[in-house]
Amino acid sequence: MFFLLVFLALTYQTEQVIPQRDKRELLSDPKVIAGKKLWETNNCIGCHTLLGEGAYYAPELGNVVKRLGGKEAVKAFIQSRPKEGVPGRRSMPQFNFTEQQLEEIASFLEYVGQINTAKWPPNIQG
Ligand code: HEC
Repeated sequence: MFFLLVFLALTYQTEQVIPQRDKRELLSDPKVIAGKKLWETNNCIGCHTLLGEGAYYAPELGNVVKRLGGKEAVKAFIQSRPKEGVPGRRSMPQFNFTEQQLEEIASFLEYVGQINTAKWPPNIQG
């Protein structure tokens, strides 16, 4: 009985804490929602990880806005990928996003960067 009560108390506490930790209020921003959709429909996770989940081929993107020094730098990177790729390796594709789509995907990545992950990843390289 005692452990059942501990279990229920911890479940309740988790339910209270998770929405704050995830900054869910920011998920009402239409740009973030549209960016999440772009993230999903373009299979970014097929190469990248996001907060540790995904493929380990390309850099972690949970902290990329911080790492590259802001949203504009992230947009510039995504936009500047060569169409023909980088010779000799499977590189980041050119997605031909519009200015609005770049802003949306960068807003989504900025949102992810604000989630409280208890200091994970441990260093800026991710
Ligand atoms: C085919 C694999 C692949 C896919 C799919 C892919 N990327 Fe990448 N991405 C890479 C690679 C590889 C790099 C490392 C730089 C390079 O070689 O071009 C990279 C680098 C990046 C960087 C810079 C990271 C840094 O730390 O410098 C950003 C931002 C990025 N990708 C965003 C995205 C987004 C957003 C999507 C989905 C719309 C996406 N990528 C889909 C392979 C991919």
